[in-house]
Amino acid sequence: MRIDVLTLFPGMFEGFLTHGLIRLAREKKLVDVHLHDFREFATDRHNSVDDKPYGGGPGMVLMCGPIFACDEAMRQAGRAAGLPGEPRRIMLSPQGRPVTPALLEELSREPWLSVLCGHYEGFDERIRLGLKPLEVSIGDYVLSGGEVAAMAVIDGLTRMIPGALGAADGARNDSFSRDGAKLEGPQYTRPRSFEGMGVPDVLLSGNHAAIAAWHEDQALKRTQERRPDLLDGTTKDTS
Ligand code: ADE
Repeated sequence: MRIDVLTLFPGMFEGFLTHGLIRLAREKKLVDVHLHDFREFATDRHNSVDDKPYGGGPGMVLMCGPIFACDEAMRQAGRAAGLPGEPRRIMLSPQGRPVTPALLEELSREPWLSVLCGHYEGFDERIRLGLKPLEVSIGDYVLSGGEVAAMAVIDGLTRMIPGALGAADGARNDSFSRDGAKLEGPQYTRPRSFEGMGVPDVLLSGNHAAIAAWHEDQALKRTQERRPDLLDGTTKDTS
């Protein structure tokens, strides 16, 4: 899958792309990420990418010109690399559709994704109207920019690409996996005793059926305590 990121801060992605799961997924050629700084497409002598809102108001608004020009260059580069048609465009915004496991799974199947990160007060509406991105939000809070949200989305969808996780079905028992929207229960590793705290006997018993039943029960209890909404069906997957 090719992912083109349009951002004013490509440097923010450097650490993200060179560590952990994303680094491995890139090495396995499961994802091919390209960063584009849309300030490079500014046309005035100050390299402006934003301007005051028409009608007044606080803050600045991202202008159409640099983003449309960057999108066009990105599309040409993708086509030159052999990708057909258009990328599926997403745009990070607190006004977007909430990110869910189903949405991440859907995005993980796209051959080509472009990810537009905003800053300041927001985007000129004509960017939405012209490029028709799917707006997505990672939660009901406002971040200072879309980059951190974009990294969350890219991370979340990459681990859903078959082969990205070490174990073939490593994601299956995760909290919110589609096999059961429950929180993951407690886990233990060595040492067997740490500062007076032990490990539940069942985990040392070697009885695989009992261990599986314990994990299931713990996951249920944790979900009841912390996220009862996941069990009573009041949380709707809106994607
Ligand atoms: N940009 C700023 N806040 C955001 C959020 N909550 N989700 C996605 N993009 C954002």
